Amino acid sequence: MIKVAIMGHGTVGSGVYEVFQMNADKIARALGEPVEVKYVLDLRDFSQLSYADKFVKDFTVLENDPEISVVAEVMGGVGAAFEFTKRLLCAGKSVCTSNKELVAMHGEELLAIAREHNVGYMFEASVGGGIPLIRPMLQCLAGNEIVEICGILNGTTNYILTQMIHSGVSFEDALRQAQENGYAEKDPTADVEGHDACRKICILSDIAFGDKFDPEEVECEGITKITLRDVAAADKLGCAIKLIGRAVRCDDGTAYAFVAPHLVPKSNLLASVEDVFNAVMIDGNATGDVMFYGKGAGKLATASAVVADMMDCAFHKDRRRQIFWGDGSQHLLRPLDTFESRWYVRFSGAKSDLEAFLPVDSVTDRGDEVVAVTRRCATAELRRRLALLAEKGTIANAMRML
Ligand code: HSE
Repeated sequence: MIKVAIMGHGTVGSGVYEVFQMNADKIARALGEPVEVKYVLDLRDFSQLSYADKFVKDFTVLENDPEISVVAEVMGGVGAAFEFTKRLLCAGKSVCTSNKELVAMHGEELLAIAREHNVGYMFEASVGGGIPLIRPMLQCLAGNEIVEICGILNGTTNYILTQMIHSGVSFEDALRQAQENGYAEKDPTADVEGHDACRKICILSDIAFGDKFDPEEVECEGITKITLRDVAAADKLGCAIKLIGRAVRCDDGTAYAFVAPHLVPKSNLLASVEDVFNAVMIDGNATGDVMFYGKGAGKLATASAVVADMMDCAFHKDRRRQIFWGDGSQHLLRPLDTFESRWYVRFSGAKSDLEAFLPVDSVTDRGDEVVAVTRRCATAELRRRLALLAEKGTIANAMRML
């Protein structure tokens, strides 16, 4: 019997318990022995649950129990979760997590501790929820130099944008629905301001490029400025608006990484990724584009990835997976100033002013405002021109085009 524990009984934690019960036979067949969830660590009262006897409030119970070999950390945050993870790894227990904030901020340190103690620290659920993505990157794509990662990495914002695009639902109502469905973070600011997607593009970049990409240094813009007018203007241009996380490798081994809303042409597969679904396009220098698609958030989808990691750790307990990246000292993150894109600009002011200040490719005068698409332009140059244009009218929105 393999004995495991779960730290945190929120959306994902309760899902991990449920997946272990729902698929107990399958999991036992795969591992050659059954798995028992011995403890669930949570300070709240769950005495009404049929498995209330599993709940403990004292972390040291897990830490000191030699029977526990693998623990799910699904508490979130970088406070207690960080401390407990370190202590569990030092106690010789593998830890599997959905906690992207912790992996993005301290992944390299936790992986080093895991390595030192010959245990696993795995985080498939931290990016893309139930989509197999981390393991394929680490293993199946290992022979590639990653050229580009481009994806929809946040289910909540994709759900909100889909509701705005197809049903004209307001931003607030769509966010409420996403929260009710268990997609959103505890504080949904992390979703709508792009911080969650930023942590995820950092984790993917860490893996792809081999050194830490610090979420606090990666440029990040969310979806709060997008209005139904932008949605309609994008539609007229044959595009859908999507929050995109991108990382693009340069020839010298540095990489651009950022999160921002983009106008995505409807011919691009990412434009048709809707609701809570995520999709990530990875361009390997040997494979070309490979696309990963599935539910990027939600209880059972995310739990399935945590459970799979726990099974992996249990199965490979004497041959831990070799996962590591550097501490950021290579400074691989390249400033966006020189990154070139085409831009969509919605402007209240004279068409002639817009044409004078921006390298315009197409421009449509809609009466009360002008919508333009620029030629490719470096970010710093485009921003300099937008600042000049802002003196002539109001820039309602400006977004990159994919
Ligand atoms: N809040 C996150 C999202 C959960 O909406 O994608 C999954 O990481």
